[in-house]
Formats: sequence, structure tokens, C-alpha cells
Amino acid sequence: MPQTNKTELLPREQEDYIDRLSEVLLYRYGTQHPKVFIHTYGCQQNVADSEKLKGMLEKTGCGFTEDKEEADIIIFNTCAVREHAEDRVFGNVGALKALKRRKPSLLIALCGCMMEQEHIAEKIYNSFPYVGLVFGTHVIHRFPELLYNAMTTGKRLIERGTDDGKIYEGIPVRRDGSFKGWLPVMYGCDNFCTYCIVPYVRGRERSRKPQIVIDEARSMINAGYKEITLLGQNVNSYGKGLEESVNFPRLLKSVADIEGDFWLSFMTSHPKDASKELIDVIADNPKISTHLHLPFQSGSDRILKLMNRHYDVAKYMDIVNYAKSRIPDVDLTSDVIVGFPGETEEDFQCTLDLIEKVEFTSLFTFIYSPRVGTPAARLEDPDSHEVKAERMGRLLRLQERISAKRTASMVGRRLRVLIEEQAREGILNARTHGGVVVEVPGSTDLIGSFAEAEITEAGNFILRGRLV
Ligand code: SAH
Ligand code: SF4
Ligand code: F3S
Repeated sequence: MPQTNKTELLPREQEDYIDRLSEVLLYRYGTQHPKVFIHTYGCQQNVADSEKLKGMLEKTGCGFTEDKEEADIIIFNTCAVREHAEDRVFGNVGALKALKRRKPSLLIALCGCMMEQEHIAEKIYNSFPYVGLVFGTHVIHRFPELLYNAMTTGKRLIERGTDDGKIYEGIPVRRDGSFKGWLPVMYGCDNFCTYCIVPYVRGRERSRKPQIVIDEARSMINAGYKEITLLGQNVNSYGKGLEESVNFPRLLKSVADIEGDFWLSFMTSHPKDASKELIDVIADNPKISTHLHLPFQSGSDRILKLMNRHYDVAKYMDIVNYAKSRIPDVDLTSDVIVGFPGETEEDFQCTLDLIEKVEFTSLFTFIYSPRVGTPAARLEDPDSHEVKAERMGRLLRLQERISAKRTASMVGRRLRVLIEEQAREGILNARTHGGVVVEVPGSTDLIGSFAEAEITEAGNFILRGRLV
């Protein structure tokens, strides 16, 4: 049952903590603002959360650094989605021990999805005594208070809270990018795919009010943002539990209708409720990206059932074919899991067949990683890592061939691109409206602007061209 949405403003007491922290920090560091190093693991949800942490920190007068050595506060915002992600965090926290010994005043804080798992939060707290603050995703709006307490009491603090089903608006945000920005439209996930930890660490699905999203998008566009990506674990279920009668396609259209020259993207779209209405809105609104990220996970109906995905291959192909018919040049991408417990060679062949049929522009591929507390972790998983890795190798070779065919078909075209960054001396990385990287010669003052590019050459996954 979707719960009624409860939107609240950032509690006044947190604003007070921000003020009190500013005073403490000023007293402690003088005008040499303390420097914070934040590393973000995982997905864009975490990136968006880190941007809130930075927004709150900025208000307290903190500065930021990319160099751990000169940091006064180090924050790792962690991801729990696969074992590899967790291992990296454990390794990197271990490596901070020497730094803390050299600089006893250093505050090390860990937050994010890993901390919402009790066994992990406790392991961190017990194995790394130099970590001063641990907090989970449900208490991020209380960060000023937690940081204040950690800094003033000198005691170690662990705060996980529970999912109160609320959305706190009005938290200041300091975005990393100046022309590409993330805009969360909803939090949490109710889908409980059997392999996935996200619903356990992010809580129940809740949508932000449409007017708040539209106003934030407008202020980003006024501030010069050229690409806005609407974020949610499953944007297609946006709107459930809101008083307003709205769904994701309508929200998308309302944002696209804001005046200005910008591109609009979104992620992620769950195939079980990706509707023709959504595809029509993309097709009819030129500002909306022609990139559709539609994770299929497996091409076997048997495995999709075990994954609790609520669609089959026929339904997936239905929406893909509709997208191809309505959006010329659509760039389809997907997430795939190889080696779900009990996946047979036959199941895996179905995954290859689907990839061959859809012809994705690119894929994000993962070997299944068991997550404590999820239903799939209790299934028999007879295949060795070698078997799974061999399957992954075959999948990657197939996709490389398909991607190369797709990029080759774009040579000779003239496309509008957004120039994003310097690739190397004299060469810029730009992106097409469908999200494909194009390398073009040019100077860095073009970064953050739209341009026309002629595609002259294709690599396996990227394009090369020149500005016209
Ligand atoms: N909400 C998004 C995905 C979020 S997680 C969606 O449903 O599409 C990003 C991707 O990580 C998933 O699509 C899945 O392919 C992968 N993933 C999640 N849990 C995993 C696990 N236990 N092992 C391997 N890959 C996993
Ligand atoms: Fe995980 Fe499934 Fe939710 Fe995506 S939709 S976050 S894969 S449970
Ligand atoms: Fe990882 Fe949390 Fe995102 S588990 S993938 S950072 S929602």
C-alpha cells in the first residue's frame, strides 16, 4: 500500500544546528575554513545526497577539498548494491588509519546505504575505532545536528534512525556540476526485486510534490543548467500517494514545458510500468533526451519471475518496439545481471538473444552478488564464479559488436551535442542527445555549451567528429 505522502520542511532545529556549527567551526579554525573531503560511491541517488551534505556544510562555512591529506573532515557516502562496492569502502576506510594518527583532530564520517544495514554499521563501528560518525540514509536531514554532536562531544556517534516515510524539503543543495544537474523526484523503492538491497536501505517509495520539482527545475534552468536529469529508483511509479493527480509522463512534460534551451533526461525506468504515454511524451517533446535506460536484468522469463520483476520478455519487447517506432534514433541502454542463482546456460542464451534483438547502444553489466537479507541470497547458487565470468565475457563480446555497429551507423551525421569536459589536451568530450560520447577538437571555453558536431569516425563505444 503506498503510504500517504508527508512533506515537511527541514526542521527549524536543524537550521539552528547549522548556526551553532558555524560558531564552533569559526572558534576552532578561525577564518581558515575547515576543509571537507567527500567521496561518493554508488548511484546518482547517493550523488544527490552528497550534494545535500555539501549544501548544509557550505552553510556552516566549510570549504571543500579533493585532497584527503589536507581535509579536516572526511565523509564517505557508501553504496551497498554489490559486494565489490562494499569491499572498496572497507579498504578505503582502512587506509585512513594512518592519516587519523597523523592528524588526531580529523573527523571521519561514514554515511549512505551501507550504514542502513545493521551488521555493516556495527562492523564499521567495531573494526574502525577512528571512525567518529556513522549515519544512515534516513537521517540525512539531521546531519547538522549529528555533525555538531560529533564535533563538540568528541564521542563516537552512530545514528541510523528509521524510515519515517517523510520527505524533508528545503535542505540546501550544492551541486557538483554547473551545467548538468541531478534532480531527485522521488526517494526509496517498493519493488523488492529479489536480488536487490536498495528497498531495505532506502526505505519506502515517496514522491516529491510536482510543483516543488518544477520550481527547482526552473531555478536550475535560470542558473544556466543545460541538462537536468530527473532521478528515482523507478520514476515510472512517481506520484503514488500524492494528493495531486500526476504521473511521471505528466511531470516530465511539465518540466520540458519550462522555457529555455535545455535537455531533460531521467532515470531509472522500470519496464513493468514503462507506459506508451511515457514514450509518447519523449517522442513529442524535443527537449527530452532520446536515451531510454530500461533495465531488463535477464532475458529469461523463468529468471525474471525469480527476480520478482513483474514483466516478461514479450512485454519488454513490446515497449522497446514502441519506443523504436515513435522515437527515431532512440538510444536504448540497460542493466543486466549475469549469474543469478540457478541461471542455466539456456537462460543465459535467452539474455544473449534479447541483447541481439534490441541492439542496445550500451549496457551496464553485473555479475550477481548475494546481498544479506534479500530473498535471492537464500537460493541455491551452484555455478562457480568462473562459469559466470565466462558468460559475462561472451555477453561483453556480443555487446561490443552491437555497439560498434550502432556507432558506425552514425558516421556522416550532423548532431547537436552538449560539450561536457576535456578528454585530453585539445580534445573535448561531448555527448549526443541520446547520451553517446563524441570526441571533438576544441578549446575548454566551450565546455557547458551546445554545439553542432559532424561525426567523422566511430570507435566501438564512442564517436569522433568535428564542430561545425
Ligand atoms: N532502480 C534501478 C536500479 C538500481 S541498482 C532499476 O531497477 O533499474 C542498479 C543495478 O544494479 C540494477 O539494475 C541491477 O542490474 C544491479 N544490481 C542490483 N543488485 C544487484 C546484485 N545483488 N548483484 C548484481 N547486480 C545487482
Ligand atoms: Fe532494486 Fe528493483 Fe528497486 Fe531497482 S526496482 S532499486 S533493482 S528493488
Ligand atoms: Fe548503491 Fe544505495 Fe544507489 S545501494 S546503487 S547508492 S541507492
